[in-house]
Amino acid sequence: MHYGDVNSLGKYTKSQWWQVKIISGKATSSTEQTAMYAEFVTCGWNIFGNDVVTAFDLSSFKNICDLGGASGALAKKFISVYPESRVTVYDLPKMIKGAKQCNMHVKDPRIYFQEGDFFQDPIPSADLYIIARVTHVLPEENCIELLRKVYAACNPGGAVLLVESFLKDTTDAGVPNLLNFIMLFLTGGKERTFEEVTILLENAGFQDVEFKITGTYLDAIIGRKALE
Ligand SMILES: C[S@@+](CC[C@H](N)C(=O)[O-])C[C@H]1O[C@@H](n2cnc3c(N)ncnc32)[C@H](O)[C@@H]1O
Repeated sequence: MHYGDVNSLGKYTKSQWWQVKIISGKATSSTEQTAMYAEFVTCGWNIFGNDVVTAFDLSSFKNICDLGGASGALAKKFISVYPESRVTVYDLPKMIKGAKQCNMHVKDPRIYFQEGDFFQDPIPSADLYIIARVTHVLPEENCIELLRKVYAACNPGGAVLLVESFLKDTTDAGVPNLLNFIMLFLTGGKERTFEEVTILLENAGFQDVEFKITGTYLDAIIGRKALE
């Protein structure tokens, strides 16, 4: 645990609204906001990233695409654990340009940035897609649309890794339920149970779905595409 990171996280919680706008892809292109957001997610992945990328053994996947990967902070964590992989960070032009403008993007020859809208534009083919903290702002129909697109682009034998704060007990007062309330109130999405996400993944074509509770506030669920 890096206490400096925890302190940094705290100072950003005062300005939640623009974060929700960025999360939803509706942010303005303010460089200052992008810089703050990039720093915020980097702090988070410094704390939780290792637990997330080691929740499953992902070493067989070499060609990774992080959809909605922002400044590449999780991609950096990924290649620190799996140094033989390369990651395409795919995000909206305003996010990638903003991160580059304020020099907050990760610089590593194994990490490549691709601008695009994953609903409107083609997404690259990959062995493993990471979708972290994206589906919780989306309603079911958009989740299915995105996951079907990912399934179609995924290489045979590949997989998708969803990272969210999954609901375990709908009555407790923990982080997932708090986030669920925020998502329901401010976005068209919600936090979901593992069962709900399994249904979404299977609906899109993925199989052999497995989940892992990491012990942090973010958990992971993987769905696989069969070798043809
Ligand atoms: C909450 S952030 C998560 C960032 C990163 N995955 C993480 O967990 O730190 C959601 C990201 O999805 C991106 N995003 C939203 N809508 C998108 C779209 N239609 N196409 C591509 N990226 C999108 C946003 O720009 C933002 O970087």
